[in-house]
Amino acid sequence: MIAKRMTNIPKSFIREILKVASNPDIISFAGGLPNPGLFPVQEIQEASNKVFSSDGMSALQYSTTEGYLPLREYISARYKEKENLDISPDEILITNGSQQGLDLLGKVLIDDNDGVIIEKPGYLGAIQAFSMYNPEFYPVSLENDGVDMKELTTIIENNAVKLFYGIPNFQNPSGVTYSTEKREQIAQLLDKRNVLFIEDNPYGELRFMGGTKKSIKSYLPDSVLLGSFSKIVSPSLRLGWIAAPQTILEKCIIAKQASDLHTNYLSQRILYQYLTDNNLDNHISKITATYKMQRDIMVQSINTFFPGNIEYTKPEGGMFLWITLPNGMSAMKLFERAIEKGVAFVPGKPFYVNDNSDTTLRLNFSNVTGENIQKGIEIMSKIIRFD
Ligand SMILES: Cc1ncc(COP(=O)(O)O)c(C=O)c1O
Repeated sequence: MIAKRMTNIPKSFIREILKVASNPDIISFAGGLPNPGLFPVQEIQEASNKVFSSDGMSALQYSTTEGYLPLREYISARYKEKENLDISPDEILITNGSQQGLDLLGKVLIDDNDGVIIEKPGYLGAIQAFSMYNPEFYPVSLENDGVDMKELTTIIENNAVKLFYGIPNFQNPSGVTYSTEKREQIAQLLDKRNVLFIEDNPYGELRFMGGTKKSIKSYLPDSVLLGSFSKIVSPSLRLGWIAAPQTILEKCIIAKQASDLHTNYLSQRILYQYLTDNNLDNHISKITATYKMQRDIMVQSINTFFPGNIEYTKPEGGMFLWITLPNGMSAMKLFERAIEKGVAFVPGKPFYVNDNSDTTLRLNFSNVTGENIQKGIEIMSKIIRFD
């Protein structure tokens, strides 16, 4: 009865963990949730009142598949202002979160057994979305400054690869950011070999230290860039976008029509009103100041409590930190023991394709108070040291 394409789709292990972690007595480093204390609740309420009172009838009507033009113009102007990137509103499609962008791109780009490079560890939502279209995955290891260039070159030189999906800023799950040198090298290599880059950038604006780096699209104008308002305004609005050349975008628009006709128009109108009436940069500064504090507490706690043979990334932005346990230690076992003691995190296993590595884990710091970060890390360290 069930279609073959569903046979090998991984279930979101994280969703399962989140069910356990939603117990308020658990200190949860598991989710990928923004800090709700920073949501602009009142401003969104005011924006929505304004939309209803000024243009309610139109805001409740069907709309275009491409998305609300003023919102696409806003995104286009922001690319120009922040990165000097020329992306016209016609090259932007508003999607139901950037997650839908991944599904649409999979649908229009991936045929059975097409070669798809993905980071190792990789974003689970992309693995899930692309798996639907039955690609041949080629995982490429992440180092502290981006993908392992030797591995990437070998993969590309020895296989028919169609696309490379990566997250160059504060990657999920590892927190790693690609260096400028690696961005340039990747762009050169992909250009030479005619491999499409899909650059997923939901965290790029959440930089709390270090200098901003150019997006890979600025070196490769024909590549694809995904963006999202989930982490900088609110995820429940479900508003993201695909920025892509017309040839790809046209097909995404057709695929989106078949899927949902258009992204929630009311949500787009409210967000646009919010963006018009408020200063997004000021709002993002509040988020990054808080996340920096939370990240610093997590790094300090790890330094204080964890044994010295445990490695961890020190993200310059975003919401995650990645731990590597010494060989022989199991993150799944640590997870089971930690849950008993009231702490949740995500073991690394689901982030790997074709790999059974069990020595890594992801910690989220954006949605945990400073006090609980300290407590949770101390509890984990006791299990690591004495179990
Ligand atoms: C790397 C990455 N891409 C895409 C998404 C999807 O985000 P959204 O659909 O809310 O825009 C997430 C969410 O956590 C993510 O981490």
